[in-house]
Amino acid sequence: MSTKQGTAPCKTGTCGTCETAVLGGSVDHRDSILTADEQAANDTMMICVSRAERGCGKLVLER
Ligand code: FES
Repeated sequence: MSTKQGTAPCKTGTCGTCETAVLGGSVDHRDSILTADEQAANDTMMICVSRAERGCGKLVLER
């Protein structure tokens, strides 16, 4: 994953500044930054565009 430091948050899933650790649940990744393998690992998500996967009862994120 690449993150551009010092840039304003894009809110479109392209800069990586909002990357947040996923502690539990399944994510519907809608960003353009994480690779397919990173998305499949489900360890982090871009909270500006991604959301809980359909059927995921609870998505737990790091504060
Ligand atoms: S604010 Fe840029 S990826 Fe979320």
